[in-house]
Amino acid sequence: SRGMSRRRRAVLHPDLKRARSLLAAAARVVVLTGAGVSAESGVPTFRGPGGLWKQFRPEELATPEAFARDPRLVWEWYGWRRELVAGCRPNPAHLAIARWMRAHSGVTLVTQNVDDLHERAADDPAVALTPLAAPLGDRFLKLHGSLFRSKCTRCAYAAEHREPVDASSADTLPRCPSCGALLRPDVVWFGEMLPPGATQAAFAAAARAQACLVVGTKGAVYPAGGVAHEAQRAGAPLIVVDPGETDYDAMADLKLAGAAGEIVPALLEG
Ligand code: APR
Repeated sequence: SRGMSRRRRAVLHPDLKRARSLLAAAARVVVLTGAGVSAESGVPTFRGPGGLWKQFRPEELATPEAFARDPRLVWEWYGWRRELVAGCRPNPAHLAIARWMRAHSGVTLVTQNVDDLHERAADDPAVALTPLAAPLGDRFLKLHGSLFRSKCTRCAYAAEHREPVDASSADTLPRCPSCGALLRPDVVWFGEMLPPGATQAAFAAAARAQACLVVGTKGAVYPAGGVAHEAQRAGAPLIVVDPGETDYDAMADLKLAGAAGEIVPALLEG
């Protein structure tokens, strides 16, 4: 899509030109992403086709109760997801968002994703060619934790954890190097608190946003899903990029129906 001509862009999505000008006119933009932004990289979404793993729904495995009941099964699922994501690559949507964040100091990315594809896009050498307008630090907020981090179920230990997990038996599950208790994925499970700092920063950015771009999330899970509502309450136009139906469709100012990998570069580049 980088080679796409301007005329084709106009033809591709009549609303695309309007969305582009809304984003260009906004000094402060919040981008809210979900599993759909990683779909074209090969990472299955949660509530779409292929979202099930061994016939389990995320709501049945991503919970403290499921982990307490069967830590081996939960680690098997997370170990499988780690291996899968490690074999995937950022797609043009991740790369376009990463470039845009470097070029525009007012852009804040709020992601619900625990994969590391936004991070890897930010570290892509081609992306780094775009001069950095302002530090990324507090402009990149992960609300549901990270797939490649583990934390102790008992003490305060938490760290990056990329070695393969042997979930073949309860005895081979990863243990805390400092206290010996079971480790768990350092992600937010249903019913658990989101990281307070990132959450507060995300809602503060939304409350000041002059535009909000939602990419690849059904908007069914809260409080993360509420970031888009907060931006709209602040008067920000809401632009939704998704090939399917989302809970934001009725409130969106513009709905660009299609795949993130195609639409987001056309929306943000050139
Ligand atoms: N481009 C853009 N969007 C896509 C694409 C694509 N190529 N493919 C699918 N989608 C959309 C789907 O239509 C759907 O609206 O991505 C969205 C994914 O929605 P969910 O599967 O519900 O994922 P998400 O909204 O990120 O879930 C939120 O729920 O399970 C918890 O913690 C987990 O962070 C997750 C949260």
